[in-house]
Amino acid sequence: MKNMFRTIVVCLSVFSLTSCYYDIQEELHPESASQACDTTVAQYSTQIMAIMQNSCNSCHSTGSASGGIITDTYQEVKRIADNGTLVGSVNHTAGFRAMPQNAPKLSSCNLQLINKWVREGSLNN
Ligand code: HEC
Repeated sequence: MKNMFRTIVVCLSVFSLTSCYYDIQEELHPESASQACDTTVAQYSTQIMAIMQNSCNSCHSTGSASGGIITDTYQEVKRIADNGTLVGSVNHTAGFRAMPQNAPKLSSCNLQLINKWVREGSLNN
């Protein structure tokens, strides 16, 4: 009888230690939810400009425009959005030079944002 009691206690404690296994990541770590990809809106002023700043302007600023491409003004980003080279280069489409040059492809979240922003007319929004 004592042995059975011990067995039950051991089983219960093993169960309680492992029962968190299926809990939902966002509930356990709320901070990870805010890093999830939100593509409900794709705006120049809040997202596209920041992506250009982080990954493109170092080579494509107005003062030093590699390949004649400028990514630090709306007008110039709009120009490469309209002629297809922005979407072609960041998505590594055949026939375009892959950007950012000599660096990993942009995150799939950032690519979705750029593609959506261009698809919606690359507005100065
Ligand atoms: C390390 C420097 C560097 C970075 C960072 C960089 N580029 Fe470039 N990019 C170049 C150079 C140099 C060229 C000129 C083409 C060539 O000679 O390869 C170029 C060309 C381009 C072109 C023309 C492509 C074509 O096929 O005609 C576009 C568009 C472009 N870049 C966009 C971007 C965007 C958008 C980013 C950020 C996601 C970016 N680049 C990041 C160096 C860079």
